[in-house]
Amino acid sequence: MIKIFKLKNIISIKDFERLDIDYILEEASKLENIAQSKEVSEELKGKILGLMFFEPSTRTKLSFETSMKRLSGQCIGFENTGSSSVSKGESIADTAKMFEGYSDALVIRHELEGVSKFISDIVDIPVINAGDGSSQHPTQTLLDLYTIKKELGSIDNLKIALIGDLKFGRTVHSLANALGLYENVELYFVAPNELKMPQEVLHDLDEMNMSYTEVSKIEEVIDKVNVLYVTRIQKERFADIEDYLQIKGAYKINKKMLEGKDLIVMHPLPRIDEIDGDVDNTKYNKYFTQAANAVPVRMAILKTLIKNNPK
Ligand code: CP
Repeated sequence: MIKIFKLKNIISIKDFERLDIDYILEEASKLENIAQSKEVSEELKGKILGLMFFEPSTRTKLSFETSMKRLSGQCIGFENTGSSSVSKGESIADTAKMFEGYSDALVIRHELEGVSKFISDIVDIPVINAGDGSSQHPTQTLLDLYTIKKELGSIDNLKIALIGDLKFGRTVHSLANALGLYENVELYFVAPNELKMPQEVLHDLDEMNMSYTEVSKIEEVIDKVNVLYVTRIQKERFADIEDYLQIKGAYKINKKMLEGKDLIVMHPLPRIDEIDGDVDNTKYNKYFTQAANAVPVRMAILKTLIKNNPK
């Protein structure tokens, strides 16, 4: 039996123990029918979720909205500073205090590392980090783990390759940290020199006695792994566009490369050109399922945090 979930805020996956992750994944599994609209839930009727998105988002924002609505709750918020009083110079702290007065929980995405932690220290409602710069994207990791477990039966004992922009990619930082909690997982980091996994993440993995190997070519790992987790090279994080143009398109997966392999392909999306469209209609494609799994997982997160922390 899984213990009570103890976290009030979801800021970093590093705050989770394995049992906390198990709790959310099990709750998500119970909510699948409601996520797919086969049943109705009134678990969060009368509750309001605040959405503060300072960076663009399709999946995270829409799946949080869908999740809240599937539980009979409602959402308020903005998706760019131009439509809020931040554009008049209001501070992020004052803006967050307004959301505290109007809503039962707050989801925030911001280009700066640490913003959601800062806000969680000044408001009493639960705060969920929906991505802070290149640092962390913990709810993406929970849906990634949910997808791996659902598709492959277990997360323990897997060989997983994280590919692409490992320097700036917050999804791969969170996922690598989380995989350190599982038994006998072997990680392969596939990136050009310029985009290697940061030392801080490698240090965390060393502390957890996690096995990892750094390589530069997909061909070095494609016959070994159960999961290819592909990421976009993040143009918006480069200070010099010339540096981006030099490595743009460095990694591309296509159907021919995958033929005969026993693996799944995941991607947090959006993709640019790193997975060819000819993979979409193959058994390897789990990236659209992964995006859809955001709903039961984020439903589990919202239900747990809002019910555990009533105003
Ligand atoms: N995976 C993800 O965070 O996608 P969005 O940027 O569209 O929210």
